[in-house]
Amino acid sequence: MTDALRFIDIAEDQLDDVIRVRTRAFGPLASGDREQWVKDAKVFLADGRYVGVVAGDEVVAAARIWDFRQWWGGRQVPMAGIAGVVVSPEYRGRGVGSMLMRGVLKRGLDKGFPISALYPATTVIYRHLGYEFGGGRYRFSFRAADLRGLGGKEVSVRRAGPDDAARFLELVGKVHESGRVGGPISWPDEKVAEWLAEDESFAYLADDGFVVYRWDDGENLRVEELVAGSEATARALWATVGSGSSIAETVNAYVSPHDPVHLLASYEAGKSAQIQRWMLRLLDAPAAIAARGFAPSIAVEVDLQVDDPELPANTGRWHLSVADGIGRLVPSEGTGDAVRVGPRGLAALYAGTPVAALRGSGLASGGSADSDTFLDTAFTGPTPYMLDYF
Ligand SMILES: CC(C)(COP(=O)(O)OP(=O)(O)OC[C@H]1O[C@@H](n2cnc3c(N)ncnc32)[C@H](O)[C@@H]1OP(=O)(O)O)[C@@H](O)C(=O)NCCC(=O)NCCS
Repeated sequence: MTDALRFIDIAEDQLDDVIRVRTRAFGPLASGDREQWVKDAKVFLADGRYVGVVAGDEVVAAARIWDFRQWWGGRQVPMAGIAGVVVSPEYRGRGVGSMLMRGVLKRGLDKGFPISALYPATTVIYRHLGYEFGGGRYRFSFRAADLRGLGGKEVSVRRAGPDDAARFLELVGKVHESGRVGGPISWPDEKVAEWLAEDESFAYLADDGFVVYRWDDGENLRVEELVAGSEATARALWATVGSGSSIAETVNAYVSPHDPVHLLASYEAGKSAQIQRWMLRLLDAPAAIAARGFAPSIAVEVDLQVDDPELPANTGRWHLSVADGIGRLVPSEGTGDAVRVGPRGLAALYAGTPVAALRGSGLASGGSADSDTFLDTAFTGPTPYMLDYF
């Protein structure tokens, strides 16, 4: 354990080593999954998105970076999705995970991702590196029989498959853009087709919507994604899922907390709702602001003092202006008292956390009541959510 530690790109002949470390962290890959895992891993490493730490020749830590786009304010922002963060047990608690994640931040930045997100198994290490809660993955439970009765019979619904991937993405885009949502991710196109091709996925398409669902634990149904551009289509697609009510009592659904289904369904089992929280970090603050959407009706001018020790290009006094749905973050010459945030405060702000909550947790200071109002006006939107785990 005395060999010098080095941050590296994982090579193909190191994948067995990575699996060994991974098994010690997450348990063994299910039999049959290894081939798919290796196939996926090769895509990551060919693109410089599988990184690790070696001690001498031995891989002792690894992480991969998904090439996602994340919707913010109704626009898609390139997002580095960090997954599979693992450190060999005998190297844990010695700074290896932090060294790995510092390399990951830099790689994400070098690959041109303005933001990064991850599902934390433990928040401590990620907070140290500037990540903060951005939103949740919400799972709600409905009675299948209730959904079955939602109607929409006038809407025609047809079975869909991998050839419909482009149409799926188009429909998602329309609904997310007009709803100015924050949080959901878009997978690389080939993954969408793979998902629709799975035997276990039941996909149905209407003119302005679609649903993909499957069996959950063999007893209930699980909606993975449902997008509807109208009330009639929402009713028709939920009723299609609910038509399984003679066998499945419950439909577990990954949906936004603002999804119209909450207002359509008569019974919602609130006690079985689940939230898995994800964290966000801005890698390139000006690019992150320029890429996202803002409400078109607002005009905001406010100064921010950012202090980001891990990614110093974000550090400095900035002027944020928002107009016509577009934001700009440029160096500021201002001298008054600016709102001060670190990377955690900046990430939480971007995700729409009210400034009062940031002040209450010590993540923001300085500025004035006016600047808080400006920041809340700029960033508050529908509750950020994600449908997918990665
Ligand atoms: C989580 C993990 C990657 C951390 O790696 P590591 O090399 O131990 O991390 P570091 O030594 O750099 O620790 C960084 C900070 O995180 C804290 N930390 C690490 N693991 C922690 C845990 N399980 N619970 C709480 N805090 C933890 C450390 O105490 C340290 O904080 P401190 O400086 O305030 O004491 C590693 O423990 C691991 O592989 N765990 C199993 C798999 C896993 O959970 N992966 C994360 C998936 S999101």
